[in-house]
Amino acid sequence: MTLIIAVDGPAASGKGTIAARLAQTYGLPHLDTGLLYRAVGYAAAQHNPPFDEGYATMFAERSIPETLDNPGYRTGEAGEAASRVAAMPGVRSGLLKFQKDFAAKPGGAVLDGRDIGTVIAPDALAKLFVTASPEVRARRRWLQVRGQGSDIAFEDMLADIKRRDERDAGRGSAPMVQADDAVLLDTTDMGIEAAFDAARRIVEAARAKHGL
Ligand code: DC
Repeated sequence: MTLIIAVDGPAASGKGTIAARLAQTYGLPHLDTGLLYRAVGYAAAQHNPPFDEGYATMFAERSIPETLDNPGYRTGEAGEAASRVAAMPGVRSGLLKFQKDFAAKPGGAVLDGRDIGTVIAPDALAKLFVTASPEVRARRRWLQVRGQGSDIAFEDMLADIKRRDERDAGRGSAPMVQADDAVLLDTTDMGIEAAFDAARRIVEAARAKHGL
């Protein structure tokens, strides 16, 4: 049995930071699957006509970039575009193999996203569903982007977060949902250190249960 850790949850819940730190702690490769959808969304937004499902599907099937470190993928617009293409079934199935192959790495892996525990790695040894109230998540994102020079109003950020939650949880294809066997980690009243400690305890409990 290998150590596969699935970290799911909504935007700005802390799941990305937690997943990256778990990967570091256990010496495992980490895939931020949101970046795959961001890469497709970014391309689909620039294509004419924008958000054409056929084009987005073809991009997902054939053009996943070797490097996902394009800073353009990290913007709020790319997140919004990602959420739109993520509702397209062809895009989801086009990205499936890449993610499943990553999860099947012989030494184990950490993946974070929305459907890791339910679709990509249903047999993961440890599953976390990281969440926080929409207000707290919006505030985290707002402070982050303001620090980068954005002047977006807090109310607009909160509306963005709620719209994304609705779209990600309401879509027909692999909606964002907590897996039955995932452990809920609510970080509303936690700083990142406390959240990471709690996450590590969840993983340690799963390892002990499976004798790993
Ligand atoms: O985690 P993120 O903000 O980078 O994700 C961007 C969008 O991609 C998110 O709104 C939903 C989608 N996504 C998804 O549908 N499934 C995943 N496994 C990861 C992300």
